[in-house]
Amino acid sequence: MAKGKGTVFFCQNCGYESSKWMGQCPACKEWNSFVEEKVVKASPNTRARRMEAKVTPITEVSINECERISVGFQELDRVLGGGLVKGSLILVGGDPGIGKSTILLQVCKNLSEQGRKVLYISGEESMEQIKMRADRIGTFGNSLSLFCETSLTLIEEVIDGEKPEVVVIDSVQTMYGEDVSSAPGSVSQVREATNTFMQIAKGKGITIFLVGHVTKEGVVAGPRVLEHMVDTVLYFEGDRHASYRILRGVKNRFGSTNEIGVFEMQQTGLREVENPSEFMLEGRPKDASGSVVACSMEGSRPILLEVQALVCQSNLGIPRRTTVGAELNRVNQLMAVLEKRGGFHLGSCDAYVNIAGGIRMVEPAIDLAIAAAIISSYKERIMPPGTILFGEIGLSGEVRAVSMAEQRVREAKKLGFLRCVLPESNRKGLPEIEGIEIVGISSVTEILSLCKA
Ligand code: TYD
Ligand code: MG
Repeated sequence: MAKGKGTVFFCQNCGYESSKWMGQCPACKEWNSFVEEKVVKASPNTRARRMEAKVTPITEVSINECERISVGFQELDRVLGGGLVKGSLILVGGDPGIGKSTILLQVCKNLSEQGRKVLYISGEESMEQIKMRADRIGTFGNSLSLFCETSLTLIEEVIDGEKPEVVVIDSVQTMYGEDVSSAPGSVSQVREATNTFMQIAKGKGITIFLVGHVTKEGVVAGPRVLEHMVDTVLYFEGDRHASYRILRGVKNRFGSTNEIGVFEMQQTGLREVENPSEFMLEGRPKDASGSVVACSMEGSRPILLEVQALVCQSNLGIPRRTTVGAELNRVNQLMAVLEKRGGFHLGSCDAYVNIAGGIRMVEPAIDLAIAAAIISSYKERIMPPGTILFGEIGLSGEVRAVSMAEQRVREAKKLGFLRCVLPESNRKGLPEIEGIEIVGISSVTEILSLCKA
């Protein structure tokens, strides 16, 4: 940190610190994100605490039986690693309007129904606005209190007085500490706020949810700045035009990451989607060329989704290829493999690949389904509707094994699929599963024969 000068420059996107202004952040490559801020002095109580510092051998550290509190949503409990841990600090990030305030208010409702004392602190909305949202969600008990404030000192005092079990801060970017001179939402303020809440959470054993907006313009510091300071980071994603929302665990000190929870936004708040596969496959065309079903793993959970492709002769010098939900480079690579190893003349074709439902999938296991959708559309041959495919495709056109094949097959069977096409090397290790035919393939040249004549 630059000493003596009194100010430093922070990247508002990732929190990178520099003594000079820079056009582009060397860490996150964001342009024009540097803002000058006053240097924050280390808080004095660190020095006081140094007196009582002592080291302990690991064998002598005792763990208090860590109690998990259910938040009333199974989907969220799973993402949290089995419920809320007392005294943890959880960051919920996401685009504005995605539903962060809604889900946290619903969590407050569920917790207050269990008789727990909950405090919802908003720096963005008035009590009336929160009450209006609450009325849409349902009826609330008495153990939930609201507080509209942005000053960290006042909030600390109120938490001390109220002694709640769970606190929600909506949002961390509106909070400010008086000792920091920069504006609310700046890197120093957001760090100061998070630090304060971390001390409250750890010191008093209160579970705190922090809401953080993701911003692209770098007007306020994004949640990335805080990721390393909190225990758990959850991101709320989803297409604002579609009604489903995905809650993704990005970091979790108390559970595994890469778990997702699926929700649907309704008139009365968010509702859990217990069977996302069914949800994703709703309205799927039967007997249409270019439409196949794939299975992708999201953490420990298989999700079936529909992959669509439209391949047609191009009138352009450079054929147009676009993707929604899948990676464009991956699709281009798969088309090159199909051209060279499969003998399909796709070089002069436009291709549009879409993962229905607006969900974004990057797992290589959907390669086989993308390739099958492309071939099905190109050859105008239909993949029988009861078929599901998964497998990774290599550059030699080989179909490679993927992890957790059995779970994927079981999920397909649960949803009534009759045939599962998977890598030959996976088929060998698979136990007999009744009611579903298993077809192992080892090369892209075999895909066409799976389609209806
Ligand atoms: P909100 O929770 O305010 O988003 P955030 O806090 O992430 O900015 O969610 C706002 C959106 O959700 C808004 O567009 C309206 C919609 N919504 C519903 O569709 N149904 C509901 O019951 C509620 C409360 C909100
Ligand atoms: Mg909000």
